[in-house]
Amino acid sequence: MSAPAPLIVADGPAGIARAAEALREGRLVAFPTETVYGLGADATDDRAVAALFEAKGRPRFNPLIVHVADAAEAETLVRFDDRAHLLAETLWPGPLTLVLPRLPACPVGLLASAGLDSLAVRVPAHPTARRLLAETGGPVAAPSANRSGAVSPTTPQHVAESLGGRVAMILAGGRCAVGLESTVLDLTGKDPVLLRPGAVTRETLEGLIGPIRRPDADDPAAPKSPGRLASHYAPTAPVRLDAQRAEPGEAFLAFGPTLGRGDGLNLSPTGDLAEAASNLFAMLRSLDRPGVAAIAVAPIPDTGLGEAINDRLRRAAAPRIPVVEENGFSGEH
Ligand code: TXA
Ligand code: MG
Repeated sequence: MSAPAPLIVADGPAGIARAAEALREGRLVAFPTETVYGLGADATDDRAVAALFEAKGRPRFNPLIVHVADAAEAETLVRFDDRAHLLAETLWPGPLTLVLPRLPACPVGLLASAGLDSLAVRVPAHPTARRLLAETGGPVAAPSANRSGAVSPTTPQHVAESLGGRVAMILAGGRCAVGLESTVLDLTGKDPVLLRPGAVTRETLEGLIGPIRRPDADDPAAPKSPGRLASHYAPTAPVRLDAQRAEPGEAFLAFGPTLGRGDGLNLSPTGDLAEAASNLFAMLRSLDRPGVAAIAVAPIPDTGLGEAINDRLRRAAAPRIPVVEENGFSGEH
């Protein structure tokens, strides 16, 4: 039983106009961002947002990121403080998502934010995403364009493989440059909290607004971030971390200079974390072949972008029964 093939449209002016029209009509459109492909729906249309949760097979308690064309549009949805202004001025457009209090007049439906009184907003940097948002003329809710729990898509083909006919249209804009989701930062409380490590590093954020906490479930001021599924970004084959080499039957995902033995791929032969991030999801997919006993992954340094890479790898390696963590980083994808 194969799903109908999705319509893949090039991201020229005509394609963008068609995609914007489809979004305004309440349909689902996959589009490129600098991080991963997003599955977009009009965030003010609860029927479209319900269809989005359905297409992804995503638990409804996990809120979505709302994408807007610029910071001025974001300020019509949520309340900015000084920290938010500084981060938006410095890092938007770009791979940073801010969780802020909703304004009373916020037109985004509560379904998109899973009933929370906060909302996650981001201004993506990819030129196609920016043109699409400007033409759509309103906020677009967009999780990564894959079935919930699976590896995030960094090419139009990945989206087609994962969602097939569940999406009305895929706007094709090449391969995503960053390859890892945005950093999600909660600014609803006194202390900023890193809900999801991502493409903007902790070091960059702390350089601008000072120390940032990890989520802490015991703290009454801790944000309610329901999207903390331990198993996520998971290929079909098991994933083994901190491996020095592949055991028989395993595929090896290397990092840095190696002796070049065995069957596998290298995230970055020169040990460059940005290159590794951009290759991570695509390489996990291509090593995830039938008959592979496990994907063995070399150790990755935990600094800079390595924090986000290791977060995704730990989730890919976690037991596959989805459990909601009491603690730790927010994890939907
Ligand atoms: O790079 C990205 O951020 C991609 C591209 C498409 O923009 N989008 C993405 O969206 O990764 P999604 O829906 O897969 O991830 C949303 C994350 C989840 O971890 C969710 O729990 C958290 O943001 N989140 C969203 N709204 C929240 C809120 N109001 N409070 C706390 N966490 C929230
Ligand atoms: Mg996702």
